[in-house]
Amino acid sequence: MTSLPTRPPGPDVGDVVVDWFATAARDLPWRRPGVDAWAVLVSEVMLQQTPVARVEPVWREWLERWPTPSALAAASPAEVIRAWGKLGYPRRALRLRDAAAAIAERHGDVVPADVTALEALPGIGTYTARAVACFGYGQRQPVVDTNVRRVVARLAHGRAEAAPARAADLSDVAALAPDDDARAVRFSVAVMELGALVCVAGTPRCGACPVRDRCAWRLAGSPPHDGPARRVQKFAGTDRQVRGRLLDILRAASEPVDAAALEPAWDDAVQRSRCLDSLLADGLVEQTEDDLFQLPG
Ligand code: ADE
Repeated sequence: MTSLPTRPPGPDVGDVVVDWFATAARDLPWRRPGVDAWAVLVSEVMLQQTPVARVEPVWREWLERWPTPSALAAASPAEVIRAWGKLGYPRRALRLRDAAAAIAERHGDVVPADVTALEALPGIGTYTARAVACFGYGQRQPVVDTNVRRVVARLAHGRAEAAPARAADLSDVAALAPDDDARAVRFSVAVMELGALVCVAGTPRCGACPVRDRCAWRLAGSPPHDGPARRVQKFAGTDRQVRGRLLDILRAASEPVDAAALEPAWDDAVQRSRCLDSLLADGLVEQTEDDLFQLPG
């Protein structure tokens, strides 16, 4: 006689995570009722690789200034790069402006609700498209970021850390979502929060985990990660830091500046010049006819 796979007793994992979220969630402004899909899109682009605390003030100012996609599309690149402030990875600011222009042109200034239409916007990938459809429009969608992949790696696959992103991540997460549509929407943000607060990289806080008793990784005795070591991104001394310093000077300048004015950004002239070249190539900096530098007009 074959036996059916047994489900653990009690509520499904997805429901447990949703109930945990009701008690443990951070009160983040983009999660509040009434936040429109444009504000959600802006938050999701800003939150990629950037901590919540740094995003919050910039997100508020941004939406006050540019409450619609067409408002942002009408801004100059220089204004947008200035308003991005020190969030980092400033190419995101220009891509967001490109996406805003496409929304204004193709979609009547309304962020599309359809995942395919969202993915067709400049700079909007698998993650952001589904985050907007789910958090902005209340659709059942698997929303899979690094934190979610790590939760699923442990909970469902018994591995210590997430493998690199793969197509099956979406179906893995969809399979854990509750049947009820409204709860499935809550689940998408709840599982992200679980990964951000409890099921963290390195040493997870299993004592605080609502699904520790069903976690495949813990049930397997919490085996250590057996793949290559996770890369911890360093910042000091990298081109990313130097590019940030060069942009700081240009953001603060009210007139175009000469190369000498950029020297205080970084002592190493070779690295400084390489970074300036890459900012020019990325369209984040512009060179005038008389060889001065400025944010693009
Ligand atoms: N809530 C919705 N999306 C989020 C994100 N990317 N980071 C943190 N909280 C979120």
